[in-house]
Amino acid sequence: MGLFSKPEQFFGLDISGTSVKVVELKHGSGKPQLAAYGGMVLPAGSMQSDSEVDLQNVSNAIRQVVSKAKIQSTHCVAALPGSGVFTSIITLPNMPRNELADSIKWQAKQYVPSPLEEVILDWHVVGEVAPSGAAVGAQPGAKPGEPGKGQPAKEIEVMLIAAPIALVKKYMNIINASGFKPLALEIEPLSLARSVVGVRAEPVVVLDIGQAGSEISIVENGVIRLNRNTTAGGGALTRAISQSLGIDANRAEQFKRDFGLREDKLEGQIPKAVKPVLDTLVSEIRRSIEFYRDQRHGAVELREMVVVGGTARMPEFLPLLSGTFGVEAKIGDPWANVNYPASLKDQLNEIAPSFAVTVGLSMREI
Ligand SMILES: Nc1ncnc2c1ncn2[C@@H]1O[C@H](COP(=O)(O)OP(=O)(O)OP(=O)(O)O)[C@@H](O)[C@H]1O
Ligand SMILES: [Mg+2]
Repeated sequence: MGLFSKPEQFFGLDISGTSVKVVELKHGSGKPQLAAYGGMVLPAGSMQSDSEVDLQNVSNAIRQVVSKAKIQSTHCVAALPGSGVFTSIITLPNMPRNELADSIKWQAKQYVPSPLEEVILDWHVVGEVAPSGAAVGAQPGAKPGEPGKGQPAKEIEVMLIAAPIALVKKYMNIINASGFKPLALEIEPLSLARSVVGVRAEPVVVLDIGQAGSEISIVENGVIRLNRNTTAGGGALTRAISQSLGIDANRAEQFKRDFGLREDKLEGQIPKAVKPVLDTLVSEIRRSIEFYRDQRHGAVELREMVVVGGTARMPEFLPLLSGTFGVEAKIGDPWANVNYPASLKDQLNEIAPSFAVTVGLSMREI
């Protein structure tokens, strides 16, 4: 055991705008084993506020979920909402890795929209530009930050992440007040890349459509090439149904889950009501795909879209995505690389899209 021994176990903690979700895995040889999981809805508006009482409510919710799920560990890895964090791919001349940090700090001023004193900077090498000028990406199987082998690269591509200090402090305060020790905070697309994409050469569009909004990312060779957010999510769909049909939010939620985008139900009123929200989502996804094609000079085809977040289960939603983008859209299964008792299969399947971030957090290598 080293002087600074790592904790044996930790749990993944996803504090979303509306809920708290936790997953604990036991790591050994082979697939990790599910040890515990749980979730609960937060008191309305508590995460949107900065008041002491509201944040205390979130800390209490974390304690309750952990205790109910019978989680054993005292340490956790948590996600930061993508909407609060700036990310961008920047290109730099190739240089020794020990010079990179200084160069990135220098360059960051041009890219990050807020003053550098107000953010925490992080970065990963995501790819290399070969001497021929062609983008080659990181080596398949390489961990983020490990460049490809072969001829020395001419330029390197770096994913720059700038998290507002105020946001990081808010999350750290909530977690500390809950009595658990945060080992790391990471952006949601990193967790998703781990749980529902893994390392594969073909690029994949990942769409996380939860309650507060949607997060779109493109993952290639196990690294995130792009990420983008929109408020077009499950909450906006329910509000649109409620307003358009003149019904309360609970009924609108039920219609959304039961009928989704089916034209043959309620005379097609639901797909009509939610069209503006879906139009926003579609145009954000389209922009992301175009941006990625530009980065890659059109050389790479996108054929697959992995959809997670509770809204992934909305009837007729996946066919709409497949048809609109000419890709194969499918629900991401974060449990695919986890061992669990067969008796839990149905229950875990049901919550799979909602737990994609949480499972990814619990899979992080510490
Ligand atoms: N079967 C279903 N059909 C349609 N929508 C569903 C279904 N099940 C859950 N949802 C929606 O999924 C959303 C919750 O998803 P999720 O648990 O991924 O959100 P979250 O992680 O708490 O929120 P966010 O990440 O946006 O802050 C809600 O809007 C809910 O209405
Ligand atoms: Mg979420």
